[in-house]
Amino acid sequence: MSATSECRICDGTVTEFIDLGRQPLSDAFVVPGDGKKEFFFRLATGICDSCTMVQLMEEVPRDLMFHEAYPYLSSGSAVMRTHFHELAKRFLTTELTGEDPFIVELGCNDGIMLKAVADAGVRQLGVEPSGSVADLAAAKGIRVRKDFFEEATAVDIRENDGPADVIYAANTLCHIPYMDSILKGVTKLLGPNGVFVFEDPYLGDIVERTSFDQIYDEHFFFFTARSVQEMARRNGLELVDVERIPVHGGEVRYTLALAGARKPTEAVAELLAWEAERKLAEFATLEQFAANVKQIKEDLIALLTKLRAEGKRVVGYGATAKSATVTNFCGITPDLVEFISDTTPAKQGRLSPGQHIPVREYQEFAGDHPDYALLFAWNHADEIMNAEQAFRDAGGQWIRYVPNVHVS
Ligand code: SAM
Ligand code: TMP
Ligand code: ZN
Repeated sequence: MSATSECRICDGTVTEFIDLGRQPLSDAFVVPGDGKKEFFFRLATGICDSCTMVQLMEEVPRDLMFHEAYPYLSSGSAVMRTHFHELAKRFLTTELTGEDPFIVELGCNDGIMLKAVADAGVRQLGVEPSGSVADLAAAKGIRVRKDFFEEATAVDIRENDGPADVIYAANTLCHIPYMDSILKGVTKLLGPNGVFVFEDPYLGDIVERTSFDQIYDEHFFFFTARSVQEMARRNGLELVDVERIPVHGGEVRYTLALAGARKPTEAVAELLAWEAERKLAEFATLEQFAANVKQIKEDLIALLTKLRAEGKRVVGYGATAKSATVTNFCGITPDLVEFISDTTPAKQGRLSPGQHIPVREYQEFAGDHPDYALLFAWNHADEIMNAEQAFRDAGGQWIRYVPNVHVS
């Protein structure tokens, strides 16, 4: 019998299809020698037999993940800087053209998107609970509220600032298990013709690419057009547009409006049909995904073990939250991967969660190229592999594990 839990969207029954074992917090990098006990939880995912929402079986308390020392910086990728700049420009010429328009961003992080809005003189507010990244946004001249967005926050913003034309969240909504409170807040804060736009990793891409490392503590929900449509409907909202976007390994940008306010685009029906054809909401599809994940684990460990026996040096590239799932699920220890190179200051000099692989600054990689680089930041593959021509010229090879283990 598979384990079950209660759906955070509809109170239906969630049936487990994959167990990735005991896992640490994916962004809790360890200070060497500080002796603090790490927090572990069971990382497993299931699907609701009623509304089809895929979700974690166990929730991690939000204050353990999002706090003063949250290390992730959105501006660490040039491709993402362009992505958010383009979207800000699009909002400025479409949704934010009325009289004194107002945009609220949930999880604005270091201000990567709102900077362009602030520069254009449009009223904005970032809601960001993680103190140090919120400070970086504020330093860019963005109005930031250091807080978790939820119903009470939304009501307070509405009272102080009036209705929002756009509420936006990138790689944030899927992080929030208390969806009921969020959507109640959204309906109270949105103006009558406002839109709630969010983009998150897409279950369709995760299943197609076997990108199991999208599953970690912070990613609570794995959305599809179908499950988002159902979640919207239950809260007086309507899914009116979807757009597949190529960032972070395949995402969908969903647009919700108050029910009846806007006509859904053709793209919604098309994506729903695509999901039905792929049998995305069927348990057998997800069981096959779990079997593919096991194969990746076996192949990756076999490759790393072989390379170690041959005396080759393997270094990880990008101490991503995703890499916590890969290293802890597969059992990748520092004797298989010497260190992980990462450009984020708050990760450097620390050890990866759980497996304690040292995280070192980029110069250590560039100054002494290893034989192989294990690309944990595979979602930034084009950007990284283009920049690393010197590694390749020196005979270096990339190891990737999505959609399967391969060397190139
Ligand atoms: N939007 C940025 C991006 O796409 O790069 C940042 C994404 S980061 C992975 C997720 C962010 O959501 C974190 O900065 C975290 O502090 C924030 N967050 C988590 N829960 C939140 C909530 N309830 N309200 C607003 N932000 C939240
Ligand atoms: P992400 O996949 O969650 O965006 O995380 C990417 C991680 O990889 C982040 O810690 C920054 C790091 N990184 C590098 O070290 N070099 C790079 O060129 C890029 C794009 C990211
Ligand atoms: Zn449900």
